[in-house]
Amino acid sequence: MPNNIQIWDDIYARDESYLRCPDDTFIRLFFKYKPSGDKLKVLDYGAGSGPVSEFLLSLSHKTYSVDSSPSACAMLRKRLSKESDISQSLEELSLGDDSLDMIVAWHVLYYLPRDRLKATLSDFKRLLKPGGIIVCTMLGEEDVFITSSSNMNQGTHQMQYGNQSGACVLGVDLHYFYNMWLAKNIKQGQVRFEFDHQVNHYQLLVIEND
Ligand SMILES: C[S@@+](CC[C@H](N)C(=O)[O-])C[C@H]1O[C@@H](n2cnc3c(N)ncnc32)[C@H](O)[C@@H]1O
Repeated sequence: MPNNIQIWDDIYARDESYLRCPDDTFIRLFFKYKPSGDKLKVLDYGAGSGPVSEFLLSLSHKTYSVDSSPSACAMLRKRLSKESDISQSLEELSLGDDSLDMIVAWHVLYYLPRDRLKATLSDFKRLLKPGGIIVCTMLGEEDVFITSSSNMNQGTHQMQYGNQSGACVLGVDLHYFYNMWLAKNIKQGQVRFEFDHQVNHYQLLVIEND
């Protein structure tokens, strides 16, 4: 797989990559599925320029923001209040087991190589409290920016993504997630719209830790 981390770092080195608002779909899922409580501990994994982290902080939740890109982390440090913990890796945050109420991984997991995805999902499971929630997305197979796809084993396929020049993304059968969490704890949906004969498509997952 190409170095997606470098590709993203180049993107965030440019100022125009600053995203002001979180995705409307994320906001809807957040309010519908967030655990109860006024001060939740929430990880924003793959935080980018920080729209989700800023939103979480505005609601007074304890926020941890992780992004592998040093340029994105620099942006996060400028943008977010001192209340937030910002890091390039989960390990550096030294979070305890069963310590998080919620993890948001919005438009990031499909950029991880397969081994890394598996390790990251195991980390998520370990860090979440029982009953904690993950809200995440995976890329939909019909998305217009996918230019080619090749099957890998274990229900995964590697796809070339035209949107971030040279980025390679991972598609996974949902069994991949079901194997880690009990099926009854996963809600799944999709965002799909067609415009000018082109399809934009991604998968939505809300997972409750057992
Ligand atoms: C499409 S952006 C999404 C940013 C943000 N979640 C949002 O909704 O605006 C993908 C982000 O994932 C980050 N990323 C890519 N690979 C990563 C990895 N292995 N670990 C953590 N973050 C990663 C990139 O640096 C980039 O900021």
